[in-house]
Amino acid sequence: MYASFKSIGAYIPKEIRTNQWFVDRMDTSDEWITKRTGISERRIASENENTSDLGYEASKIAIKRAQINVEDIDLIICATISPDYLCMPSTACLIAEKLGIRNIMALDISAACTGFVYALQTAQAFIQSGMKKNVLIIGAEKLSSIVDYSDRTTCMLFGDGAGAAIISATEDKSEAIVDIQCSADGSLQDLLLTPGITSAEPSFMQMKGNETFKIAVRTLTSDVQKIMEKNNFKNEDIDLFIPHQANYRIIKAVGDALKFEDEQKVVTVAKYGNTSSASIPMAINDVYESGRLKSGDMMLLDAFGGGLTWGSALLPFSGK
Ligand code: UT7
Repeated sequence: MYASFKSIGAYIPKEIRTNQWFVDRMDTSDEWITKRTGISERRIASENENTSDLGYEASKIAIKRAQINVEDIDLIICATISPDYLCMPSTACLIAEKLGIRNIMALDISAACTGFVYALQTAQAFIQSGMKKNVLIIGAEKLSSIVDYSDRTTCMLFGDGAGAAIISATEDKSEAIVDIQCSADGSLQDLLLTPGITSAEPSFMQMKGNETFKIAVRTLTSDVQKIMEKNNFKNEDIDLFIPHQANYRIIKAVGDALKFEDEQKVVTVAKYGNTSSASIPMAINDVYESGRLKSGDMMLLDAFGGGLTWGSALLPFSGK
């Protein structure tokens, strides 16, 4: 049995927060933010929208596009670093309840911006082992709830949103996920973290931006080189290169080092900012809805985030 990527959906919160919002509140400029990050605006969830609400909205679309019923889903995995509740219940349980699904396994994954790729590989393992048939994977973040808006070096980077996908069992090898590789290195934990988490105190994200930037470029590039070489793939075998959307300069540096053409690169960071685990599925949804992603297209995903964690995936889009 193989695992195939059957559908994509996303939820984009309505409120648009432009660079001007930050200019009005701190010592920064539209020029600095645009030049250093490529971000013009990001989306912000409303006060009464939680991460599970964003994930639920994205999931409904993915389920509909996969042309399955909620009863067909036998596993839900939600990747998030901004869960509704700190410890329990998991955001996946809350999404399951909103979808009206009970009595199946539902769990969260904490792998920061690499969360969606980790969820994808977990889904693949459950399907290939024969244990599950239709897995709903979600990347959902309300990062505005953990961003420190007094820290001008990080706060303008992040936004809210969610993406979801259905990964299903198939006997058709042409639809199968080709390969996924996930890694972690806890020795670099202090580059990106939310310190001092307690049940009583809110905790904000901290990042050593410049150091993280350099490691991100290096790791994302070598990660792609490894998965491409291992699977005998050449650049022309890739229809869409869909990297984590952290910073346009990172995407450009990695894309240039790997010699991908502009038509192959997917860039959404200008309008959504960095949405951590939601960034890759939101980008996939973007190209799907604009008609750039078609059935059978080969996708290359590449993610990097706090932990540190990183991962890449080679897979055809098997949706309609
Ligand atoms: O998603 C997970 C992984 N995340 C990432 O990969 C993000 C990686 N990091 C980055 O995207 C970039 O490092 C940032 C966008 C966060 C910062 O860009 P940078 O080119 O690394 O800038 P920097 O930290 O070296 O700071 C350059 C200057 C500093 O001033 P001095 O020391 O040169 O006088 C900062 O104080 O820019 C200053 N600065 C700002 N100026 C205006 C920092 N933040 C701002 C700001 N507005 N918002």
